[in-house]
Amino acid sequence: MADASKRSMTLTDDATGKSWKLPVFDGTVGPSVIDIRKLYSDTGYFTHDPGFTSTSSCESKITFIDGDKGILLHRGYPIDELANKSDFLEVAYLLQYGELPNATQKEDWVKHITYHTMVHEQLSSFFSGFRRDAHPMAIMCGVVGALSAFYHDSTDIHDEEQREIACHRLIAKMPTLAAMAYKYSLGQPFVYPQNSLSFAENFLYMTFSVPAEPYKINPVLAKAMDKIFILHADHEQNASTSTVRLASSSGANPFACIAAGITSLWGPAHGGANEAVLKMLMEIGSKDKIPEIVKRAKDKSDTFRLMGFGHRVYKNYDPRAKVMQETCREVLAELGIKNDPLLETAMELERIALQDDYFVQKKLYPNVDFYSGIILRAMGFPMSMFTVLFALARTAGWVAHWQEQFRDGEQKIGRPRQLYTGSVQRPFLPVGQRK
Ligand code: ACO
Repeated sequence: MADASKRSMTLTDDATGKSWKLPVFDGTVGPSVIDIRKLYSDTGYFTHDPGFTSTSSCESKITFIDGDKGILLHRGYPIDELANKSDFLEVAYLLQYGELPNATQKEDWVKHITYHTMVHEQLSSFFSGFRRDAHPMAIMCGVVGALSAFYHDSTDIHDEEQREIACHRLIAKMPTLAAMAYKYSLGQPFVYPQNSLSFAENFLYMTFSVPAEPYKINPVLAKAMDKIFILHADHEQNASTSTVRLASSSGANPFACIAAGITSLWGPAHGGANEAVLKMLMEIGSKDKIPEIVKRAKDKSDTFRLMGFGHRVYKNYDPRAKVMQETCREVLAELGIKNDPLLETAMELERIALQDDYFVQKKLYPNVDFYSGIILRAMGFPMSMFTVLFALARTAGWVAHWQEQFRDGEQKIGRPRQLYTGSVQRPFLPVGQRK
């Protein structure tokens, strides 16, 4: 822990009157934590917190979120400043090392990442084992895990240099693998990376170019892609990041851990929501249907929820959603899409919902997914690729947390406890004696 505990809280067992002092630790900002590491050995009790809604699982210096105020900081820098003034690889460096790189550090970092953009040629044949209609996230789970079978010289987690190379490889190869997954679904040839291009440009090039024709990078779309990557780069101890940390706590290799993160991200409650938003906006179809859809969202007897609204942590406007909305306008303007019915429906829906008592009282604001689907669709991505793009970007955060865990001397193998409510001990009966 950063500081020795200066204060404590007292826990009293009302049945016996016994009490215990529990140390309290303060972070630099945000809620303090009660240290319960010795709770079981001292009291014989566990804590019970399904979904970890009140549990800090680790000490971290990477990302801070104040959900009530709508603040998201990476290493102290607000997300909107990073999205508007920085670039994805610089943010990946910041997450990893704690500081923005100076000019030399940036040049070295970009060189290191760029050097690793290609994948082992034999990995290409892996793809042909998948059906052409396989979901690209299914392919990503498989091929990212398979990297551990190809890069043996970066799987020794106790060797700092190998860990560093594994991080470079993961950040660098994710766009290549993501583009390959897309190309495979189309039946088009894989496009090799072009290292003279920036990270986002290279991804667009590998995704949308074909060998038969020259491909011209659109700088506005490349900038938008880069911003989308920054907005998804990290988000503290969310489900997929916690999955990466938990997988890693057993000593698993980095490629296996990131593959575990991808599986967790795949779920619709996590990385799959922007797809759901787009489907909802398409279903709404026109502005005049909005009151009806808002009514459904408020109806307790209806399971329908307004997709892209509400967040476990943000009880205010998601700061990423603001940048996403601006980026959405830039992309549609660049592509000459005037009066996009989906964007108009989204903006009207947002306007109506933000004035509605139900959404105001429950603090339900648009989240990062509300506008991202509209942008990605306009850029030409099919819905099935949305979560893949999220995984590509989140790899920067996952590897930063993975590395931080090694530098934290207090980390142990993750092993939650449980409240057991099953049967008590009973004798085994031979099959003939069972009812
Ligand atoms: N539409 C209508 N009502 C909602 C919505 C919504 N989108 N979200 C929450 N509510 C209501 C709930 O019905 C509940 O009402 P109640 O108190 O009367 O029972 C109340 O608001 C609190 O909802 P919870 O589900 O308890 O809030 P929680 O913090 O657990 O859920 C979640 C957050 C899952 C994101 C939720 O808001 C939701 O389902 N939103 C839609 C899906 C979505 O956009 N997910 C993307 C999240 S962002 C990301 O993962 C990158």
